[in-house]
Amino acid sequence: MPTTTWNRHHILTLADFTTAEYNAVLQTAASFQEVLSRRTKKVPTLQGQVVANLFFEPSTRTRSSFEIAAKRLSADTLNFAAATSSMTKGETILDTAKTYLAMGTDIMVVRHKDAGVPQAIAQEMDRLGVKVSVLNAGDGQHEHPSQGLLDLFTICSLIDPAQPKIELLQGKKIAIVGDILHSRVARSNIWSLIASGAEVHLAAPPTLLPKFFAEYLGCTENSSRLFTHWQLEPALENADFVMTLRLQKERMTAHLLPSLREYHQLFGITRTKLKLCQPNVKVLHPGPVNRGVEISSDLMDDPEFSLIQSQVTSGVAVRMALLYFIGSGSSRVNQ
Ligand code: NCD
Repeated sequence: MPTTTWNRHHILTLADFTTAEYNAVLQTAASFQEVLSRRTKKVPTLQGQVVANLFFEPSTRTRSSFEIAAKRLSADTLNFAAATSSMTKGETILDTAKTYLAMGTDIMVVRHKDAGVPQAIAQEMDRLGVKVSVLNAGDGQHEHPSQGLLDLFTICSLIDPAQPKIELLQGKKIAIVGDILHSRVARSNIWSLIASGAEVHLAAPPTLLPKFFAEYLGCTENSSRLFTHWQLEPALENADFVMTLRLQKERMTAHLLPSLREYHQLFGITRTKLKLCQPNVKVLHPGPVNRGVEISSDLMDDPEFSLIQSQVTSGVAVRMALLYFIGSGSSRVNQ
């Protein structure tokens, strides 16, 4: 079996992920998926290590998914929620992180409403010369690497469950539809999907998809595979996968849409609109979903088209893989 060296200490972005890193995550997640199907779903990999979930912003699936992933690897977990913490008494983010460091935390999983917070904590840990790894669980409108990787794993393991690898997406057409402007999920997915050799079609109203989005991302080298549309139809035509995104009202600083009803009519994914796609098209959504807005309620629950539940399930195995790679003593990986 080939051996890959994992050199990444923090996981903050997918912008510079290599093909080898993507495939190491996909193959290791597949192994953990198998572990999770056993009667005893636990391995001793991170025994004695402490994983702290530092969520400064609300979360259901990402926080719980990291927690269960850490527990399946036998780590001890600490859960922090800003609203019930000393931050309400004026403690700063870095002081909070240093408090968790002093308690022996090995891995910090960080979510914050502002872009750059996980990077700032990672820099502080590096400056202090400690071996703590930081994993970005979503920072503002910047990135959400573990979501990008679990979406990649969900799609690749649908194509080949035994050997999911990024090359399986070469030449596939993938539409990303919705509030791209405010979406960290879209940004992480764009990096991984472009790296896979897929054709990526972004579709949204102009207020949610700036014309020069690719240039703004710095994705111009691969712009021949990244397309932007202000109409839905060209993005859906012959698409193999459709990724829908939540309208992130909490990040909108102005009235960017006339009404949710009009948005659903023009950009909401429904069975009728899916007829433009490949016959075996699948639909993804990172959750939480505004039912009947970005996707019709019946489609969301239809296992023939919807991968939404499988994304949540995949999330645990993928996060186990990420914790495994950055957990100490796992720098050399057998695949
Ligand atoms: C996403 C997030 O928080 O960025 N959700 C998630 O992590 N599952 C997307 C969203 O909030 O719409």
